[in-house]
Amino acid sequence: MDQLLIEGGVPLRGEVTVSGAKNAVLPILAATLLADGPCVLEGVPALRDIDTMIRVLRELGMEVERGEDGTVHTEVVDLSRCRAPYELVKTMRASICVLGPLLGRRKRAEVSFPGGCQIGPRPIDLHIAGLDALGADLRVEGGYILADGRRMEGRELYLGGAYGPTVTGTANVLMAAVLTPGTTVVEHAACEPEIGDLARFLVKMGAKIEGIGGPRLEITGVAGLRGTRHRVISDRIEAGTFMTAAAITHGDVLIRGVDTSHLTAAIAALQRMGVTVERVPGQGVRVRAMERIHPTDLVTLPHPGFPTDLQAQFMATLAVADGNSFVTEKIFPERFIHVAELTRMRAKIRKEGPTAMVQGVDYLSGAPVMASDLRASAALVVAGLAAHGTTTVDRVYHIDRGYEKIEDKLQRLGARVRRVSDRAPIDVD
Ligand code: EPZ
Repeated sequence: MDQLLIEGGVPLRGEVTVSGAKNAVLPILAATLLADGPCVLEGVPALRDIDTMIRVLRELGMEVERGEDGTVHTEVVDLSRCRAPYELVKTMRASICVLGPLLGRRKRAEVSFPGGCQIGPRPIDLHIAGLDALGADLRVEGGYILADGRRMEGRELYLGGAYGPTVTGTANVLMAAVLTPGTTVVEHAACEPEIGDLARFLVKMGAKIEGIGGPRLEITGVAGLRGTRHRVISDRIEAGTFMTAAAITHGDVLIRGVDTSHLTAAIAALQRMGVTVERVPGQGVRVRAMERIHPTDLVTLPHPGFPTDLQAQFMATLAVADGNSFVTEKIFPERFIHVAELTRMRAKIRKEGPTAMVQGVDYLSGAPVMASDLRASAALVVAGLAAHGTTTVDRVYHIDRGYEKIEDKLQRLGARVRRVSDRAPIDVD
């Protein structure tokens, strides 16, 4: 298992380019199941989760090749394969994104029911309710969702739940509806930029979708979809992570390739924290932190609210603010696994229900810490970059799921980070 060794205390300086968005690529790769013809995706990051989705697609009768410079070529060669096996789905929940396109194109799906997860319960009841509303026949047997889509037709449906809309649930219903006869109206659809990118990809394939980017999607089913070429949007969460790394180290970093319109809530939070965020037209965004971080309160919400996927990294940054901050998690109320590890680094954080009170301290102290889920691990790296002394982040494979070449990018910004490997086996979650 690899570890990251971080000698903290170096202000990050220079330029970094963000990669393509993992959470856009995953459903878009699943959407290539719908195409009658080859698809080419550009800007696909080299990440473990992407490799897992490619393996799922191969199981489902697709030829998938990674080309040079982040391209992925896909083509359906066998329409009879409809089973996404437990062995793959258990390693990545986003495999559930094949359910919608399998139902839409092949009218049949057998997808392993995703299990638990480090960030709390992750139900898929809304995915199932949405597909059921379209007329799919779904049941759970032997740990698999068995689905028959032969009687699906366009309907009006509501996709909201107790915690707001569902991102991958919206993706599933959208991908099922594009080849379903009639008009489907999805109310309370997720507005995350990754859903917008998926919808634009489907439109390039010939789908008819109105309301892209908003909470009401209107989809008119078409008879078939063609292959197409698409460059995925950049990763707003990777960009936001580098923003916190620049802020916590009192650095000066130009982040290239970021679409700031995807990050307005995070940028507003940084500005409240006394961080200078300057949009540089045609280049990206420059993040500078000259003074001590100020405290601020954060509440995670569906897009365009503050993203849950940046909560941990911002909490790490607020841990050294000159005052107290409240961080409330309204998407995944149990997503606080980083609190215990940050506390080992001298942070003062008290959690009550879905809220953490972060009492800013003068400095963090490097320590051996354990990565758990992807973003909690990123928060430990952010904390380690500013901490006094050495931080060893264990189980780096969690970070590799979502951050392309993280240590290379940080090294180029001057960080003293290196990866060390040992031969212990990797356990999966
Ligand atoms: C997506 O997960 C992302 N994953 C997550 O990114 C992200 O944290 C999350 O959206 C929220 O933004 C991908 O895009 C692959 P949801 P998803 O369904 O779609 C509840 C990362 O670190 N809910 O939008 O699984 C759910 O429990 C990750 O990159 C139901 O109640 O999240 C949560 O409270 C991790 N029933 C809320 O809705 C359902 O059927 C939002 O979850 C589905 C969800």
